[in-house]
Amino acid sequence: MLANLWWILFGLGTAVFLAVMAGLIFALFRQRREMRSERETEPRARTVVLWGGLIIPAAILVAAFAFNLSALRATALPVNSQDLVIEIIGRRWWWEVHYPGSQFRTANEIYIPVGQPVQLQLASEEVIHSFWVPQLHGKMDAIPGRVNTFWIQADEAGQFLGECAEFCGVQHANMRLLVVALPPEEFAAWLENQSQPAPAPADEITQRGQEVFLSAGCINCHTIRGTQATGELGPDLTHLASRFTLASATVANNRGHLGGWIADPHSIKPGNLMPPTALSGEELQALLAYLESLE
Ligand code: CUA
Repeated sequence: MLANLWWILFGLGTAVFLAVMAGLIFALFRQRREMRSERETEPRARTVVLWGGLIIPAAILVAAFAFNLSALRATALPVNSQDLVIEIIGRRWWWEVHYPGSQFRTANEIYIPVGQPVQLQLASEEVIHSFWVPQLHGKMDAIPGRVNTFWIQADEAGQFLGECAEFCGVQHANMRLLVVALPPEEFAAWLENQSQPAPAPADEITQRGQEVFLSAGCINCHTIRGTQATGELGPDLTHLASRFTLASATVANNRGHLGGWIADPHSIKPGNLMPPTALSGEELQALLAYLESLE
């Protein structure tokens, strides 16, 4: 719809430009011919000014306005958009995502069902960010102290990369996100899984990893539902292993990146709020095994 509007306005602008240029060339050539008397040309000049200066421009502007109105109506909030609401909060420098209907919190990866309008309620913690997934919608600012509501809809399943589009500090460029559109039944399964508490450690090494997690300071900032970890400064890690990426879509979610991130987050994302965690090799391996079990 927005693309159509763009092409229509581009076409109108081009037509007007060509018409004006044609008139200019016509006038330049005419000058060379013999000038007729003023009495003879005045009525014709008046007609040209009336049509070319008033009636045709007015008609073009009214038509452009009408196209604009129809685009505005198409992008307005759908009336029955209450089926799925997602709250998104811009943090430093990641996106906190709430599914109020299901009472859980996740980060940076926003799952939506295909073919349905989804209402997004956008807020920010401390500075202005701009939420932008170019394939799905126009930019929308996330402003501290207010909630901006808009909607998106994905007509095909797939992943759509988004960016923060308002400079917000040193890691602005690494404040990315993914919108993951799934067929409705797969989306429902995802929602059901995310609503569950974290799976309990199933073997010795993940058990040891959970001990490390609970004792190494991680719990000051992170939540893993089903454990004593209820920190809210950083992303909720309850289903960390189900995510494709780490650090706001900065790097892929795999063991190497996760280990590097825990040992020295600033090597991947300088300036972010997570401190390095000093662990022995054994502790780190156990912690990684535990975090990787959080499907
Ligand atoms: Cu957040 Cu730029």
